[in-house]
Amino acid sequence: MKNAERPVAFFDSGLGGISVLRAARRALPHENYIYYGDSANAPYGTKPPAEIRRLAGAVMEKVLALGAKAVVVACNTATGLAVDGLRQQYPDVPIIGVEPAVKPAVEAHPGGTVLVLATPMCLQGQRFRELMERFSDAAEVVPVPCGGLMEFVERGELEGEDLQSYLQEKLAPWQGRRVDAAVLGCTHYPFLREAIAEALGPEAEILDGNAGVTAQLHRRLKEQGLLNPTEQPGSVTFYNSLEDPAILELSRMLLELP
Ligand code: DGL
Repeated sequence: MKNAERPVAFFDSGLGGISVLRAARRALPHENYIYYGDSANAPYGTKPPAEIRRLAGAVMEKVLALGAKAVVVACNTATGLAVDGLRQQYPDVPIIGVEPAVKPAVEAHPGGTVLVLATPMCLQGQRFRELMERFSDAAEVVPVPCGGLMEFVERGELEGEDLQSYLQEKLAPWQGRRVDAAVLGCTHYPFLREAIAEALGPEAEILDGNAGVTAQLHRRLKEQGLLNPTEQPGSVTFYNSLEDPAILELSRMLLELP
């Protein structure tokens, strides 16, 4: 297989990174994609950093063995804790990470209040703390650790009473207070966007970083001469560490959501 025809790999602790893949496929429809969900080891976001690095390293090996020409670490937690190490280990592989979209949120709402919903470990990591410090003069940036939230997506539970009561409880301190924006700092959360919007009320803008990641992927493929030159639509192949056909079916369903 020619270099440019090789797939772009996306990976995540589970199904969340499919929200990033969905955006990439729309913008770059001629690429072939593989998606590796590590659902058997999910969640990453409440595990010790060394464990997250080990798991991300193991998945990286798998997607490279599957022939990936570039890798999107479609997980804020794995990016925050493991992407530097992966780049050192694989200097010749274009590796694109994701990070909470704090910058666009603060730029759109200077002086405002910006909540960042993400996993506990992502918010505790050095990379996120630096990101927050960079913007702390420009707006009130408030981390909201959401342990337990990604599990709703892993179960395919994108709406309903249990989800709403989880969110109401998590966002209770903000009831009746002005929130200008909420950043979806975990790739699972775009699948819960409507439920989160309902819990926050109509005033808050909800942002994810998926357009930025897609633009960066495009740039990196282009500069390395790795864009697939075909006019044909590309393929998407799902893999998951959980050996259960239902998880692959849920993966395809999430990819096709509007
Ligand atoms: N989807 C992942 C992220 O973007 C994390 C979910 C988890 O494994 O805790 O951070």
